[in-house]
Amino acid sequence: MKVADPQYEYLCGLLRRRTGVCIDESKQYLVVARLMPIVRQRKIPSLETLIDRVRQGVDPTLEKDVLCAMMTHETSFFRDRAPFEALREVIGGLIERRSAERQLTFWSAACSTGQEPFSIAMTLAEHFRDVLATWRIRIIATDYSDPILARAREGIYSELETNRGIAPAVLRRFFRPLQGRWSIVQECRQLVEFRTMNLNGTWPMMPIVDVVFLRNVMLYFDVPTRAALVGRVRRILRPDGALFLGGAETMIGIDDGGWDRVVTHGCSYYVPKPRR
Ligand SMILES: C[S@@+](CC[C@H](N)C(=O)[O-])C[C@H]1O[C@@H](n2cnc3c(N)ncnc32)[C@H](O)[C@@H]1O
Repeated sequence: MKVADPQYEYLCGLLRRRTGVCIDESKQYLVVARLMPIVRQRKIPSLETLIDRVRQGVDPTLEKDVLCAMMTHETSFFRDRAPFEALREVIGGLIERRSAERQLTFWSAACSTGQEPFSIAMTLAEHFRDVLATWRIRIIATDYSDPILARAREGIYSELETNRGIAPAVLRRFFRPLQGRWSIVQECRQLVEFRTMNLNGTWPMMPIVDVVFLRNVMLYFDVPTRAALVGRVRRILRPDGALFLGGAETMIGIDDGGWDRVVTHGCSYYVPKPRR
């Protein structure tokens, strides 16, 4: 099924203005498939009527539901694996340097259904248990989409989802069976604070952070939006902190000279360049 081009272009423009996410003509069938459940759930006569209602702006929740449905929320536990090996190294260094303040803050900046922040939590619980017991550790996990965050807060995953990235021993250690699915243990849940946040909007009450995971979201933004975003991230990242991007994302073309690339464990992360 298709919608008229002007209607599709209107939706793409709205998504871009509100969130920075750019999608093109080639995604039209996918977008239609993702919007049909909203049409059915809300008992709206047709897709065209749904788009008209968004245009009229009569229901503020409808616009956000539509924009969230248009986004890609693909994720998995320990996605790409190597960044989590590098993370262990980063945490080891931070623990040495933060021994006086005994506090670490992580930010999973587009956390989708929670696999990424819970992978950070499992890394900490598995390798830095003593630190967890005595330090103040926070993992702030943010996303634009409220329905997706509701799933993340639930912390319950299907067999298919845990199969993607979770080895049997890790499953036994960090998950409990629950009615045919797997519920993440309290030890990890209590580390993660989920919050709604638009990366391209205002950032309410973000603390200074030690490590940022900004993975597999910038690829949906145009170059000026990416450049502005990494500039903002740099302002809330500690000078000796680390920024992880997704496997297909780099600083090429968006770095204003503010970052050094560290290559390790077959992947890379970025650290702020010392200010002169
Ligand atoms: C492909 S997922 C990536 C999840 C995870 N970071 C990973 O690498 O597996 C992208 C996520 O970015 C979120 N997103 C897209 N635009 C956003 C924005 N402007 N602000 C906050 N989150 C956004 C989407 O809701 C989606 O959950």
